[in-house]
Amino acid sequence: MSESSNQEQQNETLATRIANRNLALHEQGLLRKRTNLVLDPSQSNYFEVDALPYVNFSSNDYLGLSTSNVLIDALHQGAKDYGVGSTASPLVVGYTEAHIKLEKALCDVTGHEAALLFCSGFSANTALMKTLFEPNDLVVADKFIHASVIDGIQDSGAKLKRFSHNDIDSAKSCFERFKPSALVTESVFSMDGDIAPLAEMSALCQQHGAWFIVDDAHGFGVIGEDGFGATRLTDDIKIDAQLVTFGKALGGQGAAILGSRELVDFLVANARHYIYSTALSPASAVAAFTALTVIEQQPELREKLKENISYFREQCESKNIELTDSLTAIQPIILGDSAKTMAVAQRLKEHGFWLGAIRPPTVPQGSARLRLTLNANHCQQDISALVNVLADILNND
Ligand SMILES: Cc1ncc(COP(=O)(O)O)c(C=O)c1O
Repeated sequence: MSESSNQEQQNETLATRIANRNLALHEQGLLRKRTNLVLDPSQSNYFEVDALPYVNFSSNDYLGLSTSNVLIDALHQGAKDYGVGSTASPLVVGYTEAHIKLEKALCDVTGHEAALLFCSGFSANTALMKTLFEPNDLVVADKFIHASVIDGIQDSGAKLKRFSHNDIDSAKSCFERFKPSALVTESVFSMDGDIAPLAEMSALCQQHGAWFIVDDAHGFGVIGEDGFGATRLTDDIKIDAQLVTFGKALGGQGAAILGSRELVDFLVANARHYIYSTALSPASAVAAFTALTVIEQQPELREKLKENISYFREQCESKNIELTDSLTAIQPIILGDSAKTMAVAQRLKEHGFWLGAIRPPTVPQGSARLRLTLNANHCQQDISALVNVLADILNND
């Protein structure tokens, strides 16, 4: 067979394979799709899809900063000062004053010695795990840990053992059975909204000389003193490496790994996601820096978020809608059955409310849920209207 027809056959095999996989997912109703939103930044929490208006209860914009005029101006000014892109890897010519200023501010608010910026939390987590661990390491992680952590550990060749979700006894038993190099957890869990027992986990790691690594993607900006995340919850939480993201409570884009100077030097020298990738845009760094100042200067945003969470929970209680114990902005409503969850989310859309319907494999089998997120910009009328419609749907099924 000639080289070109061999190549054709290979291409055909790949094309056939992906077509078959897509078809199988489609038949199971699991083919993921994107939705084309029409946004109006002056109308935080509202958008249109196919010319129909929706109230957004799905975003991770917990403080409503993505549409803040202060941040829009900061991004604009950042682009004027530095251009729209970083133009190269940080190790070539992509590292500027704007990046240095943000790294320093992140260290100031979290108490870490050094920071390293990435374009996304996914790449930061994957880079950290892949670069830090080696095949002879064993890492223990919460059963619900984010996909980016799992991928990074797998890429490193290290062994991964999972302990039961937020269960310190299960984590202890892993330490007794294995000799882990590190324990990894999220602070606020992305699908459940509950908070890990960080102080106990930190003590466990110290007792066993293991690293404590915290993915603070959904905590940074909203939990801890001044909102500045996991290290600011209590003094006894010692974190060796912490992920913070700018795409959630900070309303922008990008992420950082925080830790010791030694860790950051090691990542700069070895993390392929950092070395071989265009740096975070300086304008995004300026926006994230400005978000830190807004968070510090406007504690009322976190207060408003707290009020909205309490209001939502009271409304649900009065309508007998079962909630979990989550006291954060992430409020799952676990319905169990995937088809029912999809149907309820669809009915809510028909009433103009946009909520995530989350099914296995993103969450464990039998725990399909509506993932509802609240933010500081939601108004009580929208929250109570949503709860009324939801109660009607759930009670009439
Ligand atoms: C817990 C957790 N970690 C990391 C990430 C990745 O962050 P980013 O969206 O900045 O890539 C996410 C995003 O969904 C997340 O939920």
